[in-house]
Amino acid sequence: MTEIRRVGVLGCGLMGSGIAQVAATASYDTVVRDVSKDIWERARAGIEKSLAKLVEKGKLAAANRDAALKRLTFTTATAELQGCDIVVEAVTEDLELKNALWKELDGRSGPMTIFASNTSSLTIAAMAAATRRSDRFVGLHFFNPVPLMPLVEVVRTVTTSEETFRRAFAFAQSLGKEPVAAKDNSGFIVNLLLVPYLLDAIRAVEHGVASVPDIDKAMQLGCGYPMGPLTLLDLVGLDTTYKIAEIMFTEYRERRYAPPPLLKRMVLAGLNGRKSGKGFYDYSGDPPKVVDLGI
Ligand code: CAA
Ligand code: NAD
Repeated sequence: MTEIRRVGVLGCGLMGSGIAQVAATASYDTVVRDVSKDIWERARAGIEKSLAKLVEKGKLAAANRDAALKRLTFTTATAELQGCDIVVEAVTEDLELKNALWKELDGRSGPMTIFASNTSSLTIAAMAAATRRSDRFVGLHFFNPVPLMPLVEVVRTVTTSEETFRRAFAFAQSLGKEPVAAKDNSGFIVNLLLVPYLLDAIRAVEHGVASVPDIDKAMQLGCGYPMGPLTLLDLVGLDTTYKIAEIMFTEYRERRYAPPPLLKRMVLAGLNGRKSGKGFYDYSGDPPKVVDLGI
């Protein structure tokens, strides 16, 4: 099997920055592309903070943190990812945007380079078909927050070669993750089950079933979940959840994937969750306060 040495990451938002962090920590030279220097600076600061927490908790040696930071480079030029052995894409959940980047990179990348998408809801087939390497295209679906969540879904579409699947699976293991094999259905395993639950929690708010903190508290204390669904929605990002719901609803035509009107209104108002400072909760203070949604 061809060795992976250099990793490219497209996008350094919530997920791309986490993926870049775990790749650099696992000793890969990692080059990250996003659209502006401001965005990388925010991503680099987030990675430094996360690595510092891991050092503080004795999960990472200070020397390994320093080495990881040296292995990370940031760029605005997609062309700088051309020498990578694997490129993991984590840009906004939008097929046209993702495919424009894949097309740009396809001709510039070596014949053994694997393209891997971290999409939550698009099919891998819809991206693989836009390239001339559909046999070297997989899904590598990480979970948020990437440095803490052990799972990666490794997704094989109809054209993915056995060798590509095995290399991608081994790559996920080399990052210290626990991979599972998933088929190329929209939402793979986790989001197929998780997304209707999260959307139902928003519908419960719309219907006045209980207050936002009580819905969260009920699911935490009643089901042993680490965080309630509305806190989790704020972590995932309401903008991203809205796009995921639209894509899954279009794919399955089932009401349980339909984005609730409240979700759309919150996204229109810029209440995207933790990353924008406000969603169901306002994160400007500690502890976060419930946002009055006028319901
Ligand atoms: N890097 C390093 N350390 C971090 C960190 C990060 N990014 N984020 C938190 N930590 C640390 C905290 O500092 C804390 O350390 P101490 O124990 O020393 O205080 C520790 O991790 C635990 O954090 P918290 O006390 O803040 O919170 P927690 O105990 O609730 O754990 C959590 C945090 C792991 C995120 C947990 O709440 C959890 O598992 N939540 C559910 C997350 C989840 O469901 N993710 C999946 C989302 S869906 C998805 O990703 C797919 C998709 O396509 C949308
Ligand atoms: P995000 O909004 O935090 O980040 C998206 C990033 O993409 C931004 O930094 C943006 O500047 C960048 N971007 C946009 N156009 C770009 C371009 N042309 N080139 C390079 N970068 C570009 O979103 P996110 O939450 O990190 O989600 C990214 C992907 O990961 C999506 O496909 C999403 O569905 C998936 N995902 C998200 C989660 C989650 O919990 N948020 C979990 C698993 C998978």
